[in-house]
Amino acid sequence: MDPGEALSLINERILGLTQYHLEPEPSATVKLNQNESPFDWPPQVKEEVADFCRRRPWNRYPNFIPDELKKKLSAYAGVEPDGIIVGNGSNEMLLVLMLSLASRERDVILCQPTFTVYRLLAAGVGATERVVYLDKNLGFDVDAICDAARRHKGAVLVLCTPNNPTGSFLSENDLKKILSVHTGFCICDQAYVEFGGYSAVPLLESNPNLIITRTFSKAFAGAGLRLGYMLGTPEIIGQINKIKLPYNINFFSEHVGGVLLSQTGTVRQRIDLIVRERDALFSVLSALPFDAVYKSAANFMMVRCSRKSELFSHLKNSGILVRDVSAYPMCENCLRVNVGTSAENKAFTDAVGEFFSPIRK
Ligand SMILES: Cc1ncc(COP(=O)(O)O)c(C=O)c1O
Repeated sequence: MDPGEALSLINERILGLTQYHLEPEPSATVKLNQNESPFDWPPQVKEEVADFCRRRPWNRYPNFIPDELKKKLSAYAGVEPDGIIVGNGSNEMLLVLMLSLASRERDVILCQPTFTVYRLLAAGVGATERVVYLDKNLGFDVDAICDAARRHKGAVLVLCTPNNPTGSFLSENDLKKILSVHTGFCICDQAYVEFGGYSAVPLLESNPNLIITRTFSKAFAGAGLRLGYMLGTPEIIGQINKIKLPYNINFFSEHVGGVLLSQTGTVRQRIDLIVRERDALFSVLSALPFDAVYKSAANFMMVRCSRKSELFSHLKNSGILVRDVSAYPMCENCLRVNVGTSAENKAFTDAVGEFFSPIRK
């Protein structure tokens, strides 16, 4: 078989997709492009983990069910262990959810612009994407979401709150209103909920069609671990668990997850710091001649600038990496920057100030 023939055997819906892509990183001293935490874990924490990894036999599989980690997550998130699945990043949880819930017969409603992975996964399982656009200020259009839910009965509705890349979020009342009319499953991606917005956990009890995904990659400063989880009612989670791969998290990540959950004091302090820095960053950026600066409940924010490409290059030449999100729907000329340490944020605002300075022009 020639390569062209083999290629033609790949599912048509996959061939039609544009790959999720991140530019290879130039050597940036200030990395503000992936919504990561700017704070690594101190050597004492890593030493304890290294010691565990040295002692733990590598020839044995991890626990079939990560019970200890689930117990700790249960205490942290306020959902019983039977209502939790742990996975290889929340991305894996989204994949498992799409495989379980969406299909050629079950559409997926997305509120665009939003996290790109949803539409790739929906396409992967053959589901039709139904789009509801955010409003002109890039906030959620709750009435339009309710209309879409009524129109596409039984569809899987994905709500990313706080939303990537806009930072907008849904309030408790918004979510209740949407859930009161929606007749299908609702996947609520709360990867950034530790930084702001409303945590949907209290809504699980009266909404068995609600499933929440969360992660260790952001507030818990564990993006390299690949550890995420979903929360739901035990009956539903029990069914979805059937399709999760066995041993999907390795013993290292399982162990580190438990260690990080014992450090919630440090995590809380860091969240408070990032939130303060975010609000200060918003004030500084709002005073500069951007076309728009979008208020965010997450650890990042989006700006719109008619000279976006020039600004991106200026930042890159200053050793600062941000994310160009201008290809997302409604995000023409937009850049997304995540909150870093105070020094990183100052380097960023100084470079942006210099860009806009009349002397430079
Ligand atoms: C909204 C959203 N959901 C999920 C993820 C994936 O997170 P994880 O690292 O847990 O796979 C990201 C990553 O940036 C994200 O922005």
